[in-house]
Amino acid sequence: MSITVENSSTYITALWEPVADEIEAVNLEVIGTIPTALNGRYFRNGPNPTPGEQVDHAWSAPGMLHGIRIADGRAQWYRNRWIRTSFLDHPIDNGQQADAKDLTNHNCNPGILHHGGKIFATADAGFPYEIGPELDTVGACDFGGRLHTPMNTHPKIDPVTGELHFIGATRTTTPYLTYHLLSPENNLIRSEVIDLPEPAQQHDMAITEHYVVFYDHSVLTDAAMKAYTTSPFSWSDTKQARIGVMPKGGTSAEVVWFPIEPTFVLHTANAHEDAQGRVVVEVNRVTRENWDLGFARLGGAAPTTGALDMRNPVPESYLHRWVLDPKTRTVVSSRQLDERAIEFPTINNDHVGRDHRYVYSIAYPRHDARDTSYSIVKYDVTTGNNQELSFADTAVPGEADFAASPEGSGEDEGWLISLIHPTNGDPAELWIMDATDIGGTPTARIKLPRRVPYGFHANWIPDSDL
Ligand SMILES: [Fe+2]
Repeated sequence: MSITVENSSTYITALWEPVADEIEAVNLEVIGTIPTALNGRYFRNGPNPTPGEQVDHAWSAPGMLHGIRIADGRAQWYRNRWIRTSFLDHPIDNGQQADAKDLTNHNCNPGILHHGGKIFATADAGFPYEIGPELDTVGACDFGGRLHTPMNTHPKIDPVTGELHFIGATRTTTPYLTYHLLSPENNLIRSEVIDLPEPAQQHDMAITEHYVVFYDHSVLTDAAMKAYTTSPFSWSDTKQARIGVMPKGGTSAEVVWFPIEPTFVLHTANAHEDAQGRVVVEVNRVTRENWDLGFARLGGAAPTTGALDMRNPVPESYLHRWVLDPKTRTVVSSRQLDERAIEFPTINNDHVGRDHRYVYSIAYPRHDARDTSYSIVKYDVTTGNNQELSFADTAVPGEADFAASPEGSGEDEGWLISLIHPTNGDPAELWIMDATDIGGTPTARIKLPRRVPYGFHANWIPDSDL
């Protein structure tokens, strides 16, 4: 990649190599036609050390947002901005710290979402930061002083009630986990401590119509690791991994814990209840081997076995489904749904917590060379008739977010939007694809004025939601 290395970090290089400045450009060139029904913003968060800053793990660098504004059939602007956290100027520990000392002081680099008319950048280690529609940082948000724990990166918004469910985890002080509920208007209306014996890493969770789902899995936070340059997580071979299912409105005592095979759940695809009232949880499951390889790619300790294949920039994981029966308290089934190494599972958000047919994901080369391409995958989890858009080794797609068509009602009627990163270091493009057929010619390709570092999560923010 023909990029000047501004930052000499061991791992934040190549695809992840940071940009050194904030820019903006207007009236972007478009190949194809942007649907006039598509009005909103695509915001993407990711780690971007400041020039000269040393970080050795992608999870530890300050967050930068890249945003593209789409309206009236035009790509009106692109801009990028560091999130103005207190961590940006005064980094402490490792950016993943969550000791309730100063919950504004964290990296804020993985998540981005919108709820109740506001946009929030999220991380597991502290308060969310409110972001303005022009990508400016409004400030840390503790919901009127009511939140006293971090907010996890991936809360879940119930599409029927409009409520937002989230968790807050700390790693050196108890309680290790607290469940919270926000009203549709962003009022914090409930907080419930969930008893955990150890501080498992907490990044995601799930909801169904009647339940909240927690992961008490094989990766623990390590209170002893406080160096800024490392990330404080480690795999435990002795811990019994579990999935917890709590009735909405319930308490910690009502959580049914289901033992599962050694697992780290970084991301939920979705969960729902089937006709028998069983809880179906679909995630991208990280195994021990995947953890060793993938965590090393992001900057963790080098694997003890196997080659470190840097073509896959994220932890390798596979789409997996558990069926759990709260009545009999048994794991009905556990099944890997596909062999692809995926990350960033997304769905039509109108189906969060309800039955879904389609899961969108990014697939990466597998360490065992079973797959060597980057692609966007559209899983049909009902028929198994999956569709793939391959970029071979020429470009790496970022999280593909689904934007529903205002004229459609089908689950996949709308567009898939993804930031495409050429592997030769050329400027990025934002692709808008017909979600009913992702393999066709993209509906529109928006040409950005610069290379964009690879990053974590994205969010399509329709104007109608702000
Ligand atoms: Fe995430």
